[in-house]
Amino acid sequence: LRIAVFASGNGSNFQALVDAVRHEKLDVSIELLVCDKPAARVVERAAEAGVDTFLFKPKDYPSREAYETEILAELVRRDVQLVVLAGYMRIITPVLVEAYEGRMINIHPSLLPAFPGVNAIRQALDHGVKVTGVSVHFVDGGLDSGPIIAQRAVEIADGDTESSLAERIHAVEQALLPHVVQLIAHGRVAVEGRHVRVG
Ligand code: GRF
Repeated sequence: LRIAVFASGNGSNFQALVDAVRHEKLDVSIELLVCDKPAARVVERAAEAGVDTFLFKPKDYPSREAYETEILAELVRRDVQLVVLAGYMRIITPVLVEAYEGRMINIHPSLLPAFPGVNAIRQALDHGVKVTGVSVHFVDGGLDSGPIIAQRAVEIADGDTESSLAERIHAVEQALLPHVVQLIAHGRVAVEGRHVRVG
């Protein structure tokens, strides 16, 4: 399976995918990193891993649709079969959502549908929930709203801070994302409406 990863920041999830491929635990080819932040750490990670990067500055374009049209051409040119959003901090428009319907996934640091959007870890702490976690889902037109493929729970301890909780959540993400991509690569994930079956 030929995949592209979209990321805007640190890229620990991108790195987890690179490492899983390297250790032969993930049978995909990472064709491209798409990144909207030239200074992001993930850009260095891609260079170190020998993965090509499509870097763009949103301000150079008249609209989201304009840069997404360029990204889409790049994905098609490289025959990318699955798009993985891993800390990509931008809204996706129908240009990409429709072209990659059922072939685009996102990782989110909460048990969806709780705490969609930015600062999900902070939101969970502020709400006082005792359990939060990680979700991987297909991307549809909404905000963190598509069919859920897999989830893992993470307990919140008394005295947890945003950084102590984030550390545990990120560790769970870095295991779950390669696992889900591997399931997809092996054709084990089927979507029926809102329901995802893993066979
Ligand atoms: C992760 O928590 C992911 O769930 C969220 O953004 C964060 C990205 O972290 N969507 P990293 O850039 O992969 O380190």
